[in-house]
Amino acid sequence: MKPNLVIGNWKMNGDQQTNEVLLRNVLASQTNEGHLEVAICPPFPYLASVAAHLQDTNVVLGAQNLSPATHGAFTGEVSASMLRDIGCRYVLVGHSERRALFGETNEVVAQKFAAAIEQGLIPVLCVGETLDERRAGITNSVVTTQMTAVIKHAGIEKLTRGVIAYEPVWAIGTGETASPEQAQAVHQHIRGVIGSFNKQAAIDLQILYGGSVKADNAKALFSQPDIDGGLIGGASLDAASFIAICNAARINPRGTA
Ligand code: PGA
Repeated sequence: MKPNLVIGNWKMNGDQQTNEVLLRNVLASQTNEGHLEVAICPPFPYLASVAAHLQDTNVVLGAQNLSPATHGAFTGEVSASMLRDIGCRYVLVGHSERRALFGETNEVVAQKFAAAIEQGLIPVLCVGETLDERRAGITNSVVTTQMTAVIKHAGIEKLTRGVIAYEPVWAIGTGETASPEQAQAVHQHIRGVIGSFNKQAAIDLQILYGGSVKADNAKALFSQPDIDGGLIGGASLDAASFIAICNAARINPRGTA
């Protein structure tokens, strides 16, 4: 069984000085206790300096986005091989802000996912419904469509080499959190979709919850049987909150000994 996973998504926040203070505090708190991996996804300009801080620690590096292309005339883009070169282990793919604000379609997201796998990165596929979609009762089918695009483009085997993050759009940065039961229901559905292709891969897959995870709701979310950790935005910018969330995830994954 893989460990739980907590990823801090700094989004477009920080500067050299605040990053350093935040990292110093977060790193001071990290122990090898519990079944947990912690990753930090800073903005691109800070990947190298954060990588240097993380060297010889048990916290790993991730990026927030990548290009679907391998190299060439794509001004402003960053490739999977560059992320790998700078020391990334994870890369977020299809975050709802990328989908909503930068027009990323399911097809583009699928190409990015495949590009990451190709270079040995672990893509974290973000899926989730809007409030209107939830109200219309189509949450599961929205999430299935988002996963199916990757399965069609890259194949189920590659999808299961990544991580899936369920992030209801209405809960991101809003202070609204899905209840543990609401989140669990969608996580169970996601695992079921994978299980219809490959039962063992479904068991092994890490499915993270994201959307206003805070120190005081993390434990209840992470205790759900199909929630294997979290993708943390706002609360990852505050050392005490992020540390508390990490500690809440230092529990045995899915009841294993
Ligand atoms: P939030 O963001 O924790 O600030 O809601 C989560 C995310 O967007 O990954």
